[in-house]
Amino acid sequence: MQNDAIKIQPALEALHMPENLTIGMMVAEQHEQCRQFACDFDYYGFAFGQSPFCVPPLLQKKLQENAAYGGYVPAKGIPELRAAVAEFYERHFQLEASPERVIIGPGTKTLIYMIFNIVEGDVIIPSPAWIGYAPQAALLGKPWHVLPLSPENDYRLQPEELDTFLSSLPRKQHLLILNNPHNPTGILYSSEDLGALARVCRKHRTLVLADEIYALTTYHVDAFTSMGALYPEGTFVTGGLSKDRSAGGYRLGICVLPTAGGTALAQAFEKMAATLYTSIPTPIQRAAVSAYLQSREIDEYFAVTREIHSIMGGVLQGLCHNIPGLQATLPQGGFYFFLDFQELAEAFREKGLQNANQLGAALLSHPHHIATVTGDALMLPPHRFGARIAFVDYEGEKAYERYQENPPVKAEEKLNFVRETAPRMLEGVKAIENFVRQYR
Ligand SMILES: Cc1ncc(COP(=O)(O)O)c(C=O)c1O
Repeated sequence: MQNDAIKIQPALEALHMPENLTIGMMVAEQHEQCRQFACDFDYYGFAFGQSPFCVPPLLQKKLQENAAYGGYVPAKGIPELRAAVAEFYERHFQLEASPERVIIGPGTKTLIYMIFNIVEGDVIIPSPAWIGYAPQAALLGKPWHVLPLSPENDYRLQPEELDTFLSSLPRKQHLLILNNPHNPTGILYSSEDLGALARVCRKHRTLVLADEIYALTTYHVDAFTSMGALYPEGTFVTGGLSKDRSAGGYRLGICVLPTAGGTALAQAFEKMAATLYTSIPTPIQRAAVSAYLQSREIDEYFAVTREIHSIMGGVLQGLCHNIPGLQATLPQGGFYFFLDFQELAEAFREKGLQNANQLGAALLSHPHHIATVTGDALMLPPHRFGARIAFVDYEGEKAYERYQENPPVKAEEKLNFVRETAPRMLEGVKAIENFVRQYR
């Protein structure tokens, strides 16, 4: 057989690589080009959404201790971990999740895919959004709809908008994605906001996929409310170790199932898990128990890392927002904000930048070297000139130590903290300013 002679399923052929890998390829390409004019290429890394901190030492230690556990375990997850997760959700979010409602999976990405696969109905994705959702729906041949969020409402989904939108769809079961705190804007929904959205969902019998992977990075963590606590009958809550415990590579995610699913829904997950991957790694599950049970180490880790995210986000957002022509959302959790270039749209078009994907490429090009996530990768329409800024391009361990030695309190101290521990990000903001100056 010749090369390329094997036919690939059309749904997969139509799929693009996820945004972070695409940007990785663009960076490599730019590198090649820049070498031609002896450019000492490096780029400002605002694209990658990975926590910069090390995995909590307690979790690392427990993983080592459990390395000998090589056997298969139950498909839904080991009972000790499901019990620890249930307790964790009750302790932090007043969400009464019995262990029977908890599913352990290989990262929330896969759990989201399983939810799409198991639950009937269309998927509704408020945009801008994390890139993960739509390709999964497309791969399954599942209808999905984009519901644009507006800057006037700080990119928060409004109950009236949702009501109108759901009324326009065929009357059947649908699944709304509600990501809180929100990637890419960093905004947080209040308990009142969520209560109002829950009422609309109840009225339309719409299910919610509450992607709460950034919940414990919320800067004023008491302000976080889980949708699962307000709308338990219809909400799938997803979370995991990837962001607030900096262990994306452990690939451990959890899902709290809606109460209305009963045992049939839990069994559907069990069947699918058993069919696809049998169970997730036993040592990881056993170690993860320590990351869910209450302990001084983990509580302190949450507290320090969320403070540092808050400092980095506050300083960078302030500097970007002050660049004439730009607007930046104020992050309240997570490690992103959204940078709106819309005021410059006409100038961009006049100088040949026709859409947000081209903006992303221009930001990355010589001499700017600014890697961000833009356009399609945020599920934005092509004419919306915006970019996601991830503020995690620094040595997490150093920042963690420096914070513990002397936590900054005043604005000036916070700026000094960023200067000291994350100088490249400040240079990156300067590069954004220079980029914008070209078009003003
Ligand atoms: C909003 C959001 N949901 C889900 C995920 C996937 O997380 P996991 O590592 O658990 O698959 C990410 C990762 O970037 C994310 O930003």
